[in-house]
Order: sequence, then structure tokens, then C-alpha cells
Amino acid sequence: MKIGIDKLGFYTPHLYVDMNKLAEARNVEPEKFTIGIGQEKMAVPPVTQDAVTLAANAALDILDETDKEKIDFVIFGTESGIDHSKSAGVYVHQLLGLNPEARTIEVKQACYGATAAIQMAKGHIALHPESKVLVLGSDIARYGLNTAGEATQGAGAVALVISADPKVMVLEEKSAYLTADIMDFWRPVYSDIAFVDGKLSNEQYISFFGKVWEQYKEKTGLELKDFEAICYHMPYTKMGLKALRTVLDEASVEDQERLLANYEISKGYNKNIGNIYTGSLYLSLLALLEQKDDMVAGARIGLFSYGSGAVGEFFTSILQPGYKDHLNIKQHADLLSARREVSVSEYEEIFEETLPIDGSTMELDIDKDPAEICLTGITDNMRQYVNKRN
Ligand code: CAA
Repeated sequence: MKIGIDKLGFYTPHLYVDMNKLAEARNVEPEKFTIGIGQEKMAVPPVTQDAVTLAANAALDILDETDKEKIDFVIFGTESGIDHSKSAGVYVHQLLGLNPEARTIEVKQACYGATAAIQMAKGHIALHPESKVLVLGSDIARYGLNTAGEATQGAGAVALVISADPKVMVLEEKSAYLTADIMDFWRPVYSDIAFVDGKLSNEQYISFFGKVWEQYKEKTGLELKDFEAICYHMPYTKMGLKALRTVLDEASVEDQERLLANYEISKGYNKNIGNIYTGSLYLSLLALLEQKDDMVAGARIGLFSYGSGAVGEFFTSILQPGYKDHLNIKQHADLLSARREVSVSEYEEIFEETLPIDGSTMELDIDKDPAEICLTGITDNMRQYVNKRN
């Protein structure tokens, strides 16, 4: 049975900060951020957006009535969830009006969460070919103001419908994966910012890629020449390139040029949004699918997922005939072009704005947020949400 990605959506908040201006404010040469790290703009989430609303907004326009009826499993990958008990997916299930006869859970393993969700979804569809699974990957990346990680923050979400006979891409059966206990990036439950050993995280990312790539080649006999493109988890856009470069000499010059050119295209959204943690790999996949014109059905795309702590996986997908007709290219271009730039001081103010944690009530001004689904406030420790379309 063919199982894979039937639909893909994404959402990012309507505000961003320019990396050149952030560099200036931090007394850093702008080229460090724009070339050394490879980021041009960084999404800034207003207080009216959290992991729940970002995910719900990402899914809102890709689901039709049949999807809503057939989705019987919602899997929400996040590492910036809002509750240690209740799954963020349950809120999204309600906000989108999905069929109550569904399972809904949240999964976590840093930026690997959405990949774990996709693999679980694949198993579910293999047992229940008529059903569909909604996979959400949603995060706000926060390291703190004036930290080394600050330039690699961001916010956004992806939504994927996984089904049998998918319209966009089939996920191939074999994949290679690896777990090792590493303290490269973590966020204790009492902290709203991540802790990171930047150098170690870079090293481990590359080391994991090397190991799963070797494992994958042994399992399948495939080589770089068999790939149209490889998409990477992109904590910042230079990171995947560093990993790709470690294996490029295995390929002919022509194959190297193709893989490098497609890598450039795949970073189109990430460089303007920043790290969205578990959705980042799928944001780079989406940019490749939407912004590259000449990919043909049957082309193989590799996907490298890395979640600090750490779990890595290399898996593959095959493009389906007419896949481009099932993408929301214009809507995604409009979403990015309608964003508003904020100054560094506005970004800092927004960064510090948080909800009360003492049970008091706060009502938020959602008129300033053009998103359809917003957080309207908090009362009695319960977050309140609205879908403006209802
Ligand atoms: N012009 C051009 N390039 C410049 C430059 C200039 N004027 N100044 C510096 N650079 C280059 C540096 O040479 C360096 O390039 P290379 O990495 O290719 O050598 C690059 O800019 C970054 O410089 P530094 O290494 O000095 O930067 P830093 O130490 O201040 O911070 C970071 C970089 C470690 C990525 C930091 O931003 C960080 O900790 N980010 C969070 C962690 C992270 O994203 N890790 C990635 C792997 S883990 C993962 O993938 C999971 C996840 O999502 C978190």
C-alpha cells in the first residue's frame, strides 16, 4: 500500500525582525547572522499566538469536510507545548471541528517530534487504510534576549495530512534511525527558554547525519545519485549545508551541483522565519516543493530529521504525479509577504510579554493579530482560544 503526505500547510506569525538590524543592536557584524548563520528574517510571535494556535492556523486551510470526517488520529509534535498533561492536539481538534471519533495525543522528542508523529501515522494508516491522520509540528523557539542562540529563534507550525494513496508524496518503507543520550539542547519543565551547548549541538547534528546516512545506504543500497534533493532539519539554514557537505564527495560533480542547488531552494522559507523546531524539516520540504519548478513525478527526496537529546532519522519519499496541483503556493507566498516588520525594541517588548501564572485573568487584544485562530486570554489557569471564522 502507498502511504504518505496528502496535504501540507504551514503558518507563521505576522511579525518579524530583520536580522541585519538585530545584528546591529547586538554589536555583531550583520554577515555573521545573514551568511555565517544564514538567516534573513526571524518570526516574532505575539502573545496571542502559542503552539496551539500556530498549529491550528497551519491546518485551517488544508482540511476539507472529507478530511475532517476521516481524520481519526491527531498527533501533535511540539517541544514548546502549553500543558504538561492535556495534549495541545485536543485544543486544535476542537478549534478545527474534527470528528469526535478520533484519538488525539501530543508527542515530544525535541525537533524529532513531528517525524515520530509521521512514522506513527504511517503505521496507523497501514492498519486502517480508509482513515487519515493529522500530524502537527508546532513550536516557538526561545533562547532569550542577548544569548548566542537568539539569532536562531523563530516561530511557526506545519500541518500534514497522512493517508493512503497520497497526492503529494509517498513515504518509502526503509529508514535509518538512531538514539543516544546527549545533553546538547534541553528545556527543564521549570524554564520557558531552552538551554543549549551550541558547539556540541552542531557536532552531534553532523555526527547523527553521518551515522544514519551510512546506515541507510547499507539498508537500501541507494547512493546520492538516487536523490533529487535532500531536505534537512534547519535550526538555521547553514546547519543542513554543513551536514550535506560532509558527504558530497561521494557524488559526481553533476549530482553535487543538483543537491547544492536544491538545498538553496529548500531554505527559502526557513531563512525568513527562523527555527520552528519540530516543523523545520517540513518547512524546508515545503519550500522545495513549492518553489522548485522542474521536479518530476517519481523523483526521490531524502529527509534528515534531528531532535537534540538526541534522536535522528533519515527517510525518503517519492513525488507523485501532479503533486504541485495540491499545494497552497499562493496562500503561503501571501502569508509571508503580508507580514509586518517590527523594530528590535518592539521585538524585545513582545518577547517579554507573557501570560500570568497566578490564576488571574488576562484578556488579550486579538484585533491586532490577523490570524484566524488566536489566544484570547487566560482565566482560572485555562487558556482561551477563538476561531474567528466560527
Ligand atoms: N561574516 C561571515 N560569517 C561569519 C562572520 C562574518 N562577519 N562572523 C562569524 N561568522 C560565521 C562563523 O565563522 C560561523 O561559521 P561556521 O559555523 O561555518 O564556522 C558562524 O558565523 C557562526 O558563528 P559562531 O560559531 O561564532 O556563532 P555562535 O557561537 O555565536 O552561535 C550557534 C552559533 C552555536 C548556532 C548559536 O546560535 C546557537 O547555540 N544556536 C542554538 C543551537 C542550534 O541551533 N544548534 C543546531 C544543532 S541542534 C538542532 O538542530 C536542534 C535544534 O533545532 C535546536
